[in-house]
Amino acid sequence: ASAEKGGWPSFMAKEVAEEPDAVANTIRGRVQDGAVVIPELDGSDELFRGIDRIIITACGTASYAGMVGKYALEQWARVPVDVELAHEFRYRDPVIGENTLVVSISQSGETMDTLMAVKYARERGARTLSICNTQGATIPRESDAVVYTHAGPEVAVASTKAFVAQITALLLLGLHAGRVRGTVSAADAAAAVADLEALPAKIAKVLADEQAHVTQLAGWMADTRSVLFLGRHVGYPIALEGALKLKEISYIHAEGFAAGELKHGPIALIEPGQPVFVLLPSPRHSALLHAKVVSNIQEIRARGARVIVIAEEGDAAVLPFADEVIRIPLAGALFEPILAVVPLQIFAMALATAKGLDVDQPRNLAKSVTVE
Ligand code: AGP
Repeated sequence: ASAEKGGWPSFMAKEVAEEPDAVANTIRGRVQDGAVVIPELDGSDELFRGIDRIIITACGTASYAGMVGKYALEQWARVPVDVELAHEFRYRDPVIGENTLVVSISQSGETMDTLMAVKYARERGARTLSICNTQGATIPRESDAVVYTHAGPEVAVASTKAFVAQITALLLLGLHAGRVRGTVSAADAAAAVADLEALPAKIAKVLADEQAHVTQLAGWMADTRSVLFLGRHVGYPIALEGALKLKEISYIHAEGFAAGELKHGPIALIEPGQPVFVLLPSPRHSALLHAKVVSNIQEIRARGARVIVIAEEGDAAVLPFADEVIRIPLAGALFEPILAVVPLQIFAMALATAKGLDVDQPRNLAKSVTVE
């Protein structure tokens, strides 16, 4: 197994290092003259025409990728999108039919909960498309169409490179669907493609610039009993993912919140020394959203929280209120999550390592959950 790790201390460390390639490989062959054209969906335009609703269904990390995908599909394809955990979707009486497109997301393609949701959607007459990392797996075989992520095999139980590849595939899908439906302009699509193609180098920059910093931070926090994560907009699913990574491999209580929810309850948890990661959106995308999150940071800081902010390079607004700032390169609003999640993955991995835990094989968990 040590040879398979290629010199890395764990599969997870290797897989995080492979993230620039995972994203680049998922984009490759899917851009033509500044527009996204997904060859696997050639002849499947009908999947996107005449639909009145998209439901994204998945479990765990894949569902958080889906939450980011909702923004991309709504923005570019102009269809209402709901994200549903597969095991919740399947056990009620959802309003779906032939004008519903159900998009499932699964790294393994074998997750039983997600598979059952896809079968259920098909029985109800919905159109089905899967986003999957494993060629020929059961879920893509049960779907009308598939868009493969090309992250390569993922061995560590905690999903990392598959997650960034899933978001990439959803961005591609949003642009593809927007072109088919005529809802995205050529100029917007070309700008988005440029943003997409710049991602691999930017992920590599986050790894190069922040790996040592975040690892050191995790080392200092090895005795921490609880960590909170806050985000808004596409930063919210990243907060959820940061918390899940920490729970899974370092067995530390962690929770992700929508920052706007703070005063509706969670702020009661803040006491002196409580570590809180905050995903700060770029002020270039929305000055309003940025200001709201800065004000959330001030609120928790005033109550003694230890605030670790993930912010865009050059954003100085937060310096007076942050204990630590982790920098990510500038990127379009929908592309930021792919960069912002990287330090959170490194943090979870470094904290688990500092606690002497096996990061690849956490207790009680299986890589692929093939039972309901
Ligand atoms: C991620 O770190 C988890 N191990 C888990 O949430 C996983 O994403 C989920 O079980 C879904 O798996 P899948 O992508 O193979 O369907």
